[in-house]
Amino acid sequence: MAADNERKIAQRAARVDAFIVMDVLREAKALEAAGVKVAHMEVGQPGGPPPRKVLQAAEAALRTDDLGYTEAAGIIPLRERIARHYAEQHGLDISPERIFITTGSSGAFTLALSALFDAGQRVGLANPGYPAYRNILHALDLEPVLLAAGAAQGWVPQPHDVATALEADMAGVLLASPVNPTGAMLSAAQLEGLVRLVEARGGVFISDEIYHRLTYGEEAQTALAFSDDVVVINSFSKYYAMTGWRIGWMVLPGWLARTVEVLAQNMLINAPTISQHAALAAFDAEDELEERKSRYAANRAFLLRELPNIGFRDFSPADGAFYLYADVRHLSNDSVALARQLLTEAHVATTPGLDFDPRGGRQYLRFSYCATGEDIELACERLARWMQRREN
Ligand SMILES: Cc1ncc(COP(=O)(O)O)c(C=O)c1O
Repeated sequence: MAADNERKIAQRAARVDAFIVMDVLREAKALEAAGVKVAHMEVGQPGGPPPRKVLQAAEAALRTDDLGYTEAAGIIPLRERIARHYAEQHGLDISPERIFITTGSSGAFTLALSALFDAGQRVGLANPGYPAYRNILHALDLEPVLLAAGAAQGWVPQPHDVATALEADMAGVLLASPVNPTGAMLSAAQLEGLVRLVEARGGVFISDEIYHRLTYGEEAQTALAFSDDVVVINSFSKYYAMTGWRIGWMVLPGWLARTVEVLAQNMLINAPTISQHAALAAFDAEDELEERKSRYAANRAFLLRELPNIGFRDFSPADGAFYLYADVRHLSNDSVALARQLLTEAHVATTPGLDFDPRGGRQYLRFSYCATGEDIELACERLARWMQRREN
């Protein structure tokens, strides 16, 4: 019967790969349920609760009777507050009418891609890159075009490759900067060049800015600085540490706003109301958020110092986000097996590069460093011991 029923599964759904990091997380949780302490370096989940002001705003919202449906685009005070954020951070005048509140950036991808592209259209992605982009495109019957962005390309897609793909009918690109998994960033000039290139050929530029404000040198530039026709996607999950609250936003070109609204009305109704009220306070929690970011910076410095001593030497730039992408080909040519070994033998959870790069990812492991400092130190002690055992 199972085989009969499998025939009923849509081909586009069957093409969707597992999100490997979520599988690793499941295995890590199973170990923990069996009483093992796991050092978590797999998932991009900021350790600890969201800022106190966010929790207080959520508590206050619970005491109102204002937690029903909201309009599909989200509550006006939050859209206005996000508009103010663009004025304060980037000196940009963005109308709240162009801001759309979503269920995390994940909810934004489905809405934006459904609004912009028809089945079969081609959308460019950096490779390596965030795996869900590829998988969501498949689920929507869209074709990912993998733009090489490895060590040989300086970890960002090259204009020549983007131009070639546009000539071969690529209808748009979806790029993040800072990048998950590499931490690499497009400079403002590189970002501007790509936005102009894509738009000059009639394509749409979608900019995933979820790791903005998590940079350790230059601040990241928003694609909105270069065009009003880009789609910008952002989230309260990372800098604002609100992963489970499922809340994010998009800035849309004026001509796309109504289409997205209509889709959202039908597919989602609205992003979680309590999270919208809580997120309103996130922009006023700067002190706590910056303190948290300094923890990531300390973890990053610690790992950049310690991992080479342990035997992980070759990394991508790590200018932003909270990831190190390490070349592990001297240890294994199968990072999925290596990650499993590290989890079961050293109780350190990491993510195999295959999640992010179906071509060369078996030679890379991603270490996430947004956990607590103690977790990161514990992970390093265990990795060092594991490596010594391996060498003896
Ligand atoms: C580049 C990138 N975009 C989007 C997401 C999804 O985040 P959200 O929690 O906002 O759905 C992630 C999560 O790790 C990510 O790394």
